[in-house]
Amino acid sequence: MIEIKNLSFKYSGGGPQVLSNVNISIPAGHIYAILGESGSGKTTLLKCIGRFLQPRSGSITLKGRNIYEIEEREFRKSISIVFQQLFLFPHLNILQNMILAPMKVLGKDERTAREEAVAMLETLGIASLKDSYPAAISGGQAQRAAIARSLMLKPEYLLLDEPTSALDVNTSDEFGKWLTGLREYTTFVVVTHDILFVNKIASFGALMEKGTVREESDIGNIIKKHFPAFRQGMDG
Ligand SMILES: Nc1ncnc2c1ncn2[C@@H]1O[C@H](COP(=O)(O)OP(=O)(O)O)[C@@H](O)[C@H]1O
Ligand SMILES: [Mg+2]
Repeated sequence: MIEIKNLSFKYSGGGPQVLSNVNISIPAGHIYAILGESGSGKTTLLKCIGRFLQPRSGSITLKGRNIYEIEEREFRKSISIVFQQLFLFPHLNILQNMILAPMKVLGKDERTAREEAVAMLETLGIASLKDSYPAAISGGQAQRAAIARSLMLKPEYLLLDEPTSALDVNTSDEFGKWLTGLREYTTFVVVTHDILFVNKIASFGALMEKGTVREESDIGNIIKKHFPAFRQGMDG
């Protein structure tokens, strides 16, 4: 469980309050969605959970431990992020992208890391991407490759920022099915404004509005209450 209590955040330079008194609980074992319009603070919240930004007040705990008290290597094995831009290294093929963290963070030798990377790609059903370079694969494939790379550290939580933003509806659908099949490997926290996608994959979630949590509950309830038009579209 990741628990966020009274979290507030402001970027330096005197801008407005970007997160105000955020309280949410993210249980392990379910796909959790963070919904909200552009600018509502979703990416900022994700960066706080991933320790890329330090909040000015409030707390974030993982299984009861303040995340700032967790040693770096252990933390990277606990919570990992796939950013919207993916950040796959363009000069390395997918396999080479995947072995970097196991070698650098976990100190594995190259041969072991390669074997594990190949096994991971096979498990995820994308072994054919092994020798491809990021520029030569589709958006959906790149999204999967970036997730495969993050899963090499076997994080307990993997945070995905807008994973479907570059995907067309069909690819996004396929990607959603693929993602739900990976629930046994990690708990996904998915930031998105794609209600159609969320409705298919997530169990619980939070709706953000101008830096605050408007509602946290199961997804069906959030959609019914806050996106009634979408619901009607689904039913009829
Ligand atoms: N690096 C930054 N410096 C200053 N303000 C930022 C920065 N990143 C985001 N913001 C501001 O914080 C607010 C929330 O942004 P963000 O967390 O990216 O929202 P979302 O992901 O929901 O679109 C926006 O008003 C945005 O302009
Ligand atoms: Mg964002």
